[in-house]
Amino acid sequence: MKREIALFGAQCLRQKCAWVAEVDDAIRALVADLFDSMRAAEGVGLAAPQIGVLKRVCAVDVTVHQPDCPPVVLINPKVTGHEGEQIGEEGCLSFPDLYGDVKRYAWVEVEAIGLDGQPFKTEGEGFYARALQHEIDHLDGKLFIDHLSPLKRQLMRGALKRLKKESAAQAKASVIDIT
Ligand code: NI
Repeated sequence: MKREIALFGAQCLRQKCAWVAEVDDAIRALVADLFDSMRAAEGVGLAAPQIGVLKRVCAVDVTVHQPDCPPVVLINPKVTGHEGEQIGEEGCLSFPDLYGDVKRYAWVEVEAIGLDGQPFKTEGEGFYARALQHEIDHLDGKLFIDHLSPLKRQLMRGALKRLKKESAAQAKASVIDIT
């Protein structure tokens, strides 16, 4: 089911998410919702806190940029290796139409649990590596704007203020249900 995506300003985006103890029906339903919501918004990644669920679960699908990287579900993901650096433009579904240059590792290796409950590793570079780091950041309440230069953040101030207002309206309509 497609869920409303929390906008910058929502409290659920700034929380440290809980580790998942077991991949049960609730987690499987959450993953289905993540994919439905991400695809409806034409995003390349989405983390559970963005739909108000404070659990360490995220989805990444960068096939439009890197067809050799299949969509992936990451439960309890951890970056277990990294190399180099890359600087590139980044956005986020919680910040519609806002983009900024973010420095990330060029290559990462991530260890996680899959939908089948089994641990697995995934690795990659370029945009895939960037998306993995961005989504894992979300699980600790960290957002891409935290990585921007002070000047760029200053330039975004007006837009961020508007987003906070919108997110307050969103919370009032209680479309974001924090579980
Ligand atoms: Ni994001």
